[in-house]
Amino acid sequence: MGLASEVKWTRTGKLKFTVEDETAEIDCILPIPSDAEPLHPSLDGLMDDEIVGVSGFFISGGRDAPLFVTNIHKPPLGFHSKNSAGQENAVCAAFLSDIHLGSKTFLSKQWDKMIKWFNNDDLARKIKYFVLSGDGVDGVGIYPGQEKHLAITDLYKQYSELGKKLEELPDWVEVVMLPGNHDAVRPAEPQPALDPEIQQDYSNTTFTGNPCDFSLNGVRILGYHGKSIDDFVATLRSVSYSKPEMAMRAMLERRHLAPSWGGKTPISPEPEDRMVIPKIPDIFVTGHVHGHFVEDYKGTLMVHSSTWQDQTDFQMMLGFKPKPCILTIVNLNSYSTTSIQF
Ligand SMILES: [Fe+2]
Ligand SMILES: [Fe+2]
Repeated sequence: MGLASEVKWTRTGKLKFTVEDETAEIDCILPIPSDAEPLHPSLDGLMDDEIVGVSGFFISGGRDAPLFVTNIHKPPLGFHSKNSAGQENAVCAAFLSDIHLGSKTFLSKQWDKMIKWFNNDDLARKIKYFVLSGDGVDGVGIYPGQEKHLAITDLYKQYSELGKKLEELPDWVEVVMLPGNHDAVRPAEPQPALDPEIQQDYSNTTFTGNPCDFSLNGVRILGYHGKSIDDFVATLRSVSYSKPEMAMRAMLERRHLAPSWGGKTPISPEPEDRMVIPKIPDIFVTGHVHGHFVEDYKGTLMVHSSTWQDQTDFQMMLGFKPKPCILTIVNLNSYSTTSIQF
């Protein structure tokens, strides 16, 4: 048992990788078993630095002889039974991410439509929490040439404008806001909450770190911006930008939000690994890739929150179509979900 690394496929379709622990490193070769399911590691791949158990045999006794793997062992993810908010105080939580305020592609008309809905609809009256999973603003200097795409070029102004937008929500709505990779905190994960100087522009918002495990009326939520989805897309064949839910499944299965060190996700070396998922959540929410998806996976409700940013030039170049302006609403008692497109 150890950390998998140097994962690649051979020309004949076998998966080659090494397994290392503190004492040694061993080369492994895994052929495709005849009964392999699509998510079998030999077909899907392994994440760099994920923990696996391997069993198999040696053909030769040489010092560097590879292990021919017959089985990969991972602790199976069991079925999770959800906590729910009591019926008497049944409330809803709304989920959204990646508002990217300050960008020219922020969808202002649709925002106004949503605010109108919040103030007039019966379902909206039940929404007590509004969870924003990062990239609230577009930020400044996040990528080369970003100035061309900004409607607001001052970072503090972006945050105060976002504060004003959130003030438009009815006063029964409490906002919970995580940072993302466009926000004004260090990029290395885990990311701390936004600076107190920025927080003072907000009256109805609780600021958390990223990731964050919190509870709403007894329902355990794991909120993560989702930067590591980039690594899952780059590594596992089952994951693509149009299927971020497959990355979320892979995270839950591994009980880890960002297993790979040195990839696309900057990770801070901390005494304790805060990207581990020690307890399976009732609701697992991410954003970052500007898609939208809701599904129950082994008892956990997975929400991939939508964005409020239209297709960017960069996404157009990649042929990626975002799914903006979809608000996901979850009843914290019954777990019934509603997705509204504005
Ligand atoms: Fe984003
Ligand atoms: Fe992001």
